[in-house]
Amino acid sequence: NKKITIAIDGFSSTGKSTLAKQIANHLGYVYVDTGAMYRAVALFAMQNGYITSEFFDKDSLINSLPYIKLQFKFNDALGFGEMYLNDVNVETEIRTIEVSSFVSKVAEISEVRSKLVEQQKEMGKDKGIVMDGRDIGTVVFPEAELKIFMTSSATTRAQRRYDELVAKGDNVTFEEVFKNVEERDYIDTHRADSPLVMAEDAIEIDNSHLDREEQFQLVLEIVIDAT
Ligand code: C5P
Repeated sequence: NKKITIAIDGFSSTGKSTLAKQIANHLGYVYVDTGAMYRAVALFAMQNGYITSEFFDKDSLINSLPYIKLQFKFNDALGFGEMYLNDVNVETEIRTIEVSSFVSKVAEISEVRSKLVEQQKEMGKDKGIVMDGRDIGTVVFPEAELKIFMTSSATTRAQRRYDELVAKGDNVTFEEVFKNVEERDYIDTHRADSPLVMAEDAIEIDNSHLDREEQFQLVLEIVIDAT
């Protein structure tokens, strides 16, 4: 079997990362969650007071970019790489609703995108990689052998994200989560630099009515055809 590049894009909370992890584990490929990288940059901006609900000092964030070190370190127990920001494990902190509420504003900045895209291309240069995000099939790996675009209704997605946050003990309301999912979709699809669009050669999967296992089996057949 030849090693390929698999790009998985789609709206927030479509279950991209669950699917990407399943595929990567099955094939023995590296899995990269690019959303975690944008989330870590947003966390950095929050920690330094560059972004609050009142203002966003983009220039200070742009000037700090050389001092932001992002790494994935593989956790054997979890079976995937955890996000490290300047040598600190931020895997839990980047998943909060606060980070979710700022991340799309941070991801609009071209300087942020070009830094992260460069690092992502480097991680995928030997293939054998499953990467998920918003611009993987269009910008990061336009030559990927397999591109999957995931969709599902906003209500389904908000419900999944809400259940996840509540299970972790986060004190959120469904309305708050739904609003965040819609807001991020809007910003992600309308930004000037690398907006979320389906690549022409991507395979679209609507998983509104599929459970994890059904979705995995469906994609596995597509993957087997491609490798
Ligand atoms: O995938 P996740 O929902 O964790 O991504 C968080 C946010 O990061 C997205 O809503 C989007 O604004 C941004 N993002 C992006 N490009 C990517 C991955 C994520 O702009 N490749």
